[in-house]
Formats: sequence, structure tokens, C-alpha cells
Amino acid sequence: MENPLEGLEPQGRIPRIGDPAPNFEAESTFGNIQLADFRGSWVVFFSHPADFTPVCTTEFLAFARRHPDFRKSNTELLGLSIDSIFAHLSWVRNIEEKFGCRIPFPVVADIDRRVALCYGMIMPGESKTETARCVFIIDPNAVIRALIYYPMTTGRNVDEILRLVTALQTSDAHMVATPANWQPGDPVIVPPPRTQEAAAERLLENYDCKDWYFCQKKL
Ligand code: BEZ
Repeated sequence: MENPLEGLEPQGRIPRIGDPAPNFEAESTFGNIQLADFRGSWVVFFSHPADFTPVCTTEFLAFARRHPDFRKSNTELLGLSIDSIFAHLSWVRNIEEKFGCRIPFPVVADIDRRVALCYGMIMPGESKTETARCVFIIDPNAVIRALIYYPMTTGRNVDEILRLVTALQTSDAHMVATPANWQPGDPVIVPPPRTQEAAAERLLENYDCKDWYFCQKKL
């Protein structure tokens, strides 16, 4: 059988959850930036396939609309594609002209794919020349905390990305986990016990427990 990956270039390595986010320096629509400039903030670092494409435009509009909410959560947005700085500038100006929306976050120009390869953003089986719709959630200590990968044809849900950042921040602040479809204000999960003693003790706490392993609480 034919190997569909034969002849494709190496796509770099995807950093994993818990890995240090690879630092880079690059030209962006806000000038030269390094990832290290964002130390102390959460970062949503996302790639899109190409400038001047319709799904990507809807995503940029959605990110721009939610930008104040990300900022309130100490989170910076950072875009990237394998396009030149001039293409980026032309596209963000076009979005402002046609949609009345200023893009309030920097977009990295990665024409030589240096950063994209570092983050494993290219899926050669889908496209060798464009980045997939990747999202890296990076914490204030520059650690990768979550990754999302979407194909070319499906625009991302920016509300879900904000929810994910909020869930991670809530887990860090309160040493809890968050259940499926959790929204801020909903009960959270008390992490399951690791010892017999802890399993018995937690039933005496003021938690809402279905059983020893399943306890929730309100924050
Ligand atoms: C888009 O953003 O519209 C798009 C980009 C690449 C492939 C298909 C759609």
C-alpha cells in the first residue's frame, strides 16, 4: 500500500502539555517580538492557514471581539501564519476596512516556517505550505498547558478557548479540576483521593459527594 506521508518533509515536533514553550524572536505586525516578552501573562498562541482566507477572517474577528475578555484574564493573543509581514499588514488593514474591526493583537510573520516547525504547526498530510489551526495555551511561566488542533475547513470556537484558559486559571488558583462543559460559576471537582485515609476523610468535608471518588464543591 502507498504510504501517504512518503516524500513529505519533516513537520517539526509538537511540544506537549507540560513542556517549556519554545522561545522565538520574530517579526510581527506589532514589531519584533519574542515569546519571552509575554512572561507573566498567559498566552494564546494560534496559527491560521493563510491570510486573506474566509474562515481565518472569521476567526480573527472572533478573537478580536473577545480580546477584552482575554485581557481581563491576564491573557495575550498572538497569531501566526506562513505569510510575510506585508501580507499580514495588508490583511489586517483589509479586515479593518471591510469589517470595521481593528485587530488588537500581534500576528507573527513566519515566511521561513521557523516558528511553525518549532511548534509542529504544519500537518503535511493536509498542507505542506500552510499551518493548521493550532492553539497553544501557554502559562505565565512559559509552560505549555493545553493544545488544540483543528483542520483547515473548521473555524475554531473562540469562546471555548477563553473557557479553557479560565478553567486552567481556576484549577491553578483553587487546586481543583473542572467537569465537562464547565462554565465559570459552576461547581468544580475536588481531585480524587490518592490514599484510603484521604478517601474516608473527604466524606466528612462539606463537599457534594456522589461517592468517595466523585466530589464537587462551589467556589
Ligand atoms: C479559510 O480560512 O477560509 C481556509 C483556509 C485554508 C483552507 C480552507 C479554508
